[in-house]
Amino acid sequence: MTELTDFPGPAHQAAPVAFPQDRTCPYHPPTGYQPLRDGRALSRVTLFDGREVWAVTAHATARALLADPRLSSDRRHPGFPVPTERFAGVRDRRVALLGMDDPEHNRQRRMMIPSFTVKRATELRPWIQRTVDELLDAVIAQGPPAELVSAFALPVPSMVICALLGVPYADHEFFEEQSRRLLRGPTAADTQDARDQLEGYLGALIDEKAAHAEPGDDILDELVQHQLREGTPDRAELVSLAVILLVAGHETTANMISLGTYTLLQHPSRLAELRADPALLPAAVEELMRMLSIAEGMQRVALEDIDVDGTTIRAGEGVLFSTSVINRDPALYEDPDALDFHRPTRHHVAFGFGIHQCLGQNLARAELEIALGSLLARLPGLRMAVPAEEVRFKRGDTIQGMLELPVTW
Ligand code: HEM
Repeated sequence: MTELTDFPGPAHQAAPVAFPQDRTCPYHPPTGYQPLRDGRALSRVTLFDGREVWAVTAHATARALLADPRLSSDRRHPGFPVPTERFAGVRDRRVALLGMDDPEHNRQRRMMIPSFTVKRATELRPWIQRTVDELLDAVIAQGPPAELVSAFALPVPSMVICALLGVPYADHEFFEEQSRRLLRGPTAADTQDARDQLEGYLGALIDEKAAHAEPGDDILDELVQHQLREGTPDRAELVSLAVILLVAGHETTANMISLGTYTLLQHPSRLAELRADPALLPAAVEELMRMLSIAEGMQRVALEDIDVDGTTIRAGEGVLFSTSVINRDPALYEDPDALDFHRPTRHHVAFGFGIHQCLGQNLARAELEIALGSLLARLPGLRMAVPAEEVRFKRGDTIQGMLELPVTW
């Protein structure tokens, strides 16, 4: 008999599906997730190592569970659901914010909040606009055609997070490569080494900042000052915070810019609608966030038994949130597979929900609105330079995005 006896799911569930799976189309959930879209709130899924865990697939249940303190983000817990083999090798490392539970998490988060408010993101808009304009000037001067990931989608968030953190953009090739290895390196050794490299690099930068008599006003300077004033965060914690901010700050948004552009180009009537009415931009960004759900499979482990509509998640069991399925819950979104800028989209969980809800979401929204809006305005004839099926997108990854985006205009 299978493990289903030990973990009684709803009676009609077929064999657990594998999780995560690669997408077939870069902006739709993997076709293999179809069994997860049959209206149940919880399903059993199988990880790479054969372990079975829960996948949350209904929107209301996801919001309730993401706000439930009985679910932990501590990667060191033996029941924590590691989605790929390469992450299994680094599970004993403490990850700042994302890998913390309250009250420790709250202490770290409170230190970071002033740098990531809506007000701060609004103040940064003119500067983000200038950065975007300069990058587009260069794209236009050199093209057509252009490879949009390297020329635009990656540099925009990379430059922004560098300036905010106080990391020299001149080092971008190094940290972009290490971030890529950290998230997508083929082996656990790659992931571990990439993390060591990033920690070494940011640790040296932090020591340099601590040695300066005159602090600057970037986030790392502020954290160093916080440390000198209050004794926290200690050096290891500060380095860990710097790593997560640098990696989360550029990889995710870069993927949204590239995949968002690709998706718009595959929906010509929606693209025309957006060009005709740029006031739709904030709604379009939100709807693209929902539809693309690039951060798939948030992970938690149950600390206590949790009852979900008569099904029990037992203490010690792993729980994954299938963002792409949750954000297409037909109970909340009519015709959920369609791109529709007029639907109420705001409650999607593409930025997560609860205490770990994305710290950088205000910044990401500002970057996406400015990047996509300016791209469409400056390149009215924008189109793919190769057939859409030939464009390579990221596979074997929990963060979705394009590897390249050849365009012309
Ligand atoms: C469109 C781009 C982005 C997407 C889709 C995204 C997605 C997410 C998601 C889903 C979470 C929650 C993870 C969980 O609950 O396990 C998260 C957390 C986080 N994100 Fe983002 N993110 C984006 C951009 C950014 C940016 C620009 C930053 C800038 C620093 C950032 C920093 C963080 C941090 C620090 C956390 C952890 C927060 C905590 O644990 O309290 N993200 N993000």
